[in-house]
Amino acid sequence: MNNDDWRASNRVRQIQKSAIHEMTRLSKDIEDVAFLSWAKPTSGTPKHIGNAAITAIKKGLVGGYSATSGLPELREEIAKKLRRDNNIPAEASEIIITVGAIEGLAAALMSAIDPGDEVILPSPTYSTHIRQVLIASGTPIFVPTIEEEGFSLDVEGVRNAITPKTKAILYCSPSNPSGTVFNATQLRQLADIALKHNIMVITDEAYEYFVYDENKHFSIASIPEMKKNTISCFTFTKTYAMTGWRIGYVHAEKSLIPQIEKSHIPFAICAPVVSQYAALAALTGPQECVVKFREHYLSTRNVMCERLARLNEIFEHQKPQGSYLMFPKILIPEGRNSATFCIKLLKDAKVSTTPGVAFGPTGEGHLRLSFCVPHDMINKAFDRMEAYFKK
Ligand SMILES: Cc1ncc(COP(=O)(O)O)c(C=O)c1O
Repeated sequence: MNNDDWRASNRVRQIQKSAIHEMTRLSKDIEDVAFLSWAKPTSGTPKHIGNAAITAIKKGLVGGYSATSGLPELREEIAKKLRRDNNIPAEASEIIITVGAIEGLAAALMSAIDPGDEVILPSPTYSTHIRQVLIASGTPIFVPTIEEEGFSLDVEGVRNAITPKTKAILYCSPSNPSGTVFNATQLRQLADIALKHNIMVITDEAYEYFVYDENKHFSIASIPEMKKNTISCFTFTKTYAMTGWRIGYVHAEKSLIPQIEKSHIPFAICAPVVSQYAALAALTGPQECVVKFREHYLSTRNVMCERLARLNEIFEHQKPQGSYLMFPKILIPEGRNSATFCIKLLKDAKVSTTPGVAFGPTGEGHLRLSFCVPHDMINKAFDRMEAYFKK
C-alpha cells in the first residue's frame, strides 16, 4: 500500500490490476513468444471500411461532434440489422452509438445501478464486467455456470441468488472467457425470472456472429415482454475486426434511452465520428469478411481442441460453442494458482496465456486461451507446452 493512496477513490482502489494487461506487459520481454492472451482479432480491418473512413475525412465530415446518440443514418442501419439478425423489433430512436461495447456497458450500468445494488454475473465472466460493476458502486454476485455442461447457464443458481437488492443480471453470450452460447430455452427461463422480480438484464453480445456447430445466438430482447427490462450491448470490434476504431452501440426501449444518454454524455459526448462512418460502411458493404473470420475461428478452435486433447493429463477442456476463447481447467496441482502457473509458462515455455482468476472466483485453476490467431501460433504454443510438460 502506497502512502499516496489517499489520492485515489475507494471505488478505483478496490479494483485489481488487469491480469490481461499484466501478461501483455510481461510478454513484451520474452523474445518470440507464442501469444494466446488477447481476445483481439489479429486480422486487419477490411479495406473497404478503412476507405470509407478516408473518404469521410476527405469530405470534411469528421471534425465535429455528431448527435450524442450518433449519426441518424448509422442508427437506421443498426435498427435494420437488429430486426434482421437479432429478431429485435428495433427503431433508430432506441439506439445510442457508443465508444465500443465497453462504453455502452458502462453507460448501461451507470444508468441502472445505485450504490450497493447487486448485479448477478454468471461466471466465469469477462473481467471488465466485474470492474464496471464495481465502478458503478454495485456489488458483483457471482453465480457459477455449470462447467461439466460446457459452462452452461445455471438458471436455478440465478433464481437462488436473487435478494431484495438484486437490480440487474449482466452476461455475455457467446462468452468471454469460456466460449459458451446460452441457448434460447435457458434465456427464456432467465427472462421469466427477470420479469417476475423486476430485474434489468444487461447483455454483452460482442461475439454474436461467431457461433459454431448447431448452436445459435439468441438475443433476450427479442422476447417481446423483455424489451422494457433489457439493455443490449453490441460492437463492431469483433465482427469487422475494428478493435481500435472504438465503435459499438446499445439498444433499449425508447423510454429508457434518455436515462442511458445521461451516463453516455459525460464519458463520451459521442462516439468518434470517423469511426461512425467506418461502421456505416461495415454494415452496408459486403459481408464476406464476417463469413471468412467465422470460418477461420471455427478452424482454429478445432486445432486448439485437438492439441488440448493431446495434453489431457494437464488440461481438461470444454469445446467452445462460440467466441474465439476457451477456458481449460488445469489438472495438475501447480494450476491451483493460475497467476503463478501462467507466469511460469510464459518464462519457461515462452507461451503467453491469461490466468483464470481474472474472470472471477470460479475462474481460479483455469487458463484462458484465445484462438483468434493464425494456426501456426497455436501449433507453436502447443509444441512448446508439450515439450515443457514432458520434462
Ligand atoms: C465480452 C467482451 N465484451 C466487450 C469487449 C470489448 O468490446 P469493445 O472493443 O467493443 O469495447 C470484449 C473485448 O475483448 C469482450 O471480450
